[in-house]
Amino acid sequence: MNPYILSIDQGTTSSRALLVDQEGQIRAIAQKEFTQYYPKAGWVEHDPMEIWFSQREVITAVLKKAGIKSTAIHAIGITNQRETTIIWDRSTGTPIYPAIVWQDRRSSDLCDALKAQGHEEMVRQKTGLLIDAYFSATKIKWILDNVKDARSKAKSGQLAFGTVDSWLVWNLTSGKEHLTDATNASRTMLYNIHTHAWDLELLDLFDIPLELLPSVKSSSEIYAETSIKAINNSIPIAGIAGDQQSALFGQLCIQPGMVKNTYGTGCFMLLNTGREAILSNHKLVTTIAWQIGKEVTYALEGSVFIGGAVVQWLRDGLGLIEQSEDICPLAEQVDTTDGVYIVPAFAGLGAPHWHSHARGAIFGITRGTTDAHIARACLESIAFQTYDVLEAMQQDAKTKITELRVDGGATANDLLLSFQANLLQVDVVRPTNTETTAMGAAYLAGLASGFWRDVSELQALHAADRTFRPEDNSSSTAAQLSDWHIAVEASKIWSSL
Ligand code: G3P
Repeated sequence: MNPYILSIDQGTTSSRALLVDQEGQIRAIAQKEFTQYYPKAGWVEHDPMEIWFSQREVITAVLKKAGIKSTAIHAIGITNQRETTIIWDRSTGTPIYPAIVWQDRRSSDLCDALKAQGHEEMVRQKTGLLIDAYFSATKIKWILDNVKDARSKAKSGQLAFGTVDSWLVWNLTSGKEHLTDATNASRTMLYNIHTHAWDLELLDLFDIPLELLPSVKSSSEIYAETSIKAINNSIPIAGIAGDQQSALFGQLCIQPGMVKNTYGTGCFMLLNTGREAILSNHKLVTTIAWQIGKEVTYALEGSVFIGGAVVQWLRDGLGLIEQSEDICPLAEQVDTTDGVYIVPAFAGLGAPHWHSHARGAIFGITRGTTDAHIARACLESIAFQTYDVLEAMQQDAKTKITELRVDGGATANDLLLSFQANLLQVDVVRPTNTETTAMGAAYLAGLASGFWRDVSELQALHAADRTFRPEDNSSSTAAQLSDWHIAVEASKIWSSL
C-alpha cells in the first residue's frame, strides 16, 4: 500500500496540502495564501483560478518537501471553505464571475425580502438553514441575475455551479467530474437534508436551474481519479467534507452528543446529533455532518463571526500587541478585566443572535483601564460567545455536554482555554494533533480506500494534549455572564438607535 494520504485543505485565506501517514502523523505541510478582494462594502471575492493554481502549487510543494513522488500517495481527501460560490463554463472550464465568498453580504436585501414574503419556515424545514446571505443559494441567484446571458446558459446546461470542493474535483480531473458531497450540498440552501436531493421547490424559489448543479455523493467513497500534469499518476479522490464537518470528524466526535469548537477567525461549533436532524429553537443551523455509505449523520452548528479576529484587531487595529501570541502575556498582567466587556460584533452577531446590524462595543472602562484589561476582555469575549452557542445547543439537543473538543489557532492560548472550561463547567480538550480539519478529510479518504480499516483504528491514533478542567467558581462566572448578556443586548440596541 502507498504510504500517504494527501489531504487538500482549501480555506478562506490559504490553500494547504498535507501528507498523512498510517499512524495519523503529518509528514509534511505546504501552504500558500491567496488574494482577498473587497470590491465594495460588504462584498468579498476570490479568484477561482488563483484558488486552483495555489492549490496545485502546494500539492507539488508538499511532495517536494517530503522528498516523495506522487506514486507514494494512496488517496486524496478534500476539505474546503464552505458556501463560497463558483460558476464556470463547462466547455472552457473558465469561471464566468469571481468566487463569491461565504462572508459576502451582497444578497442580504434579497434574503430580507424572502423572509418578509414568509419563506423562512419552509426553507428551514427542508434545509435546516436560516435564510441568510451566508449560504450559496442567493449568491448563485445574484450571479445568474447579474452576469450577461448567465441564466439562459445555465438553463441550457452550459454552466456548472460548485462550492470549492466541486471546483477542485473538476480541475483535478481535467473537467471530467462535476460532483460535491452531502456536507457541502447541505450549505447551499438548495439541498433537502431529509430527502437527500436537490429540492425543486427551492430551485424554483431562487430561480436556479437544476442543470447547473453537481451530483451529490457521500463524504467517503472513491469518486474519481486525478488526471493532471502536476500529479503524474492517477490517484483516487476518496473523501470530501466541508471544513467544519471535516474538523468534527477529525476530532473523532463520532458519537451523538460529542461536540467540537474550532477557534479560527470566527468560531464554529458543531454537535453530533447522530441520525436525528434536530431543528433548532435558538437560531442554530441543522447540517449534515457526514454521509458514509447511505448512513447520514447530522449536526447542530453555531457560527460566531469574530473569534480569533478580535486578536487580529487588537494587533492591527489598535496596535496594542505586535504578534497574536503576545496577547496571552499582556492579558496575564491582570487577574480580571476589572469589569470591562468587549462585544466584538464587528460584522454583526452570528449564532445564536443572528443580528446583522449589531455594532461592536467596549463597556465598563474607567480611568484605571489598561491595555492588559482590554486584551483580557478580548480573549474572554471569544469564550463568552462560545458559551452562548453551547448553551443553545444543549437546550436544542436536550442534552448536557460534558466535554468540548477544541482546535484552531487560538487554542494555543492556555489562558483562553482555562477561562473557557470555567465558564462552561465542562472539560475542554485540546488534541495533540490540532490539524483536525485536514485530518478529517484524510480519515474519510483513508476509510474509503482501505488505508485504515475502520473508525476504531482511527480512535487509536487520536490523543489529547491537555484537558482543561473547570474550577468551581460558579458565583463569579454567573455574575460575569449576566454582565456579558447585558453588554450584548446593549450593542443590539445601539444599532437600532
Ligand atoms: O462556513 C465557512 C467556513 O467553512 C470557513 O472556514 O476555516 O476557511 O475560515 P475557514
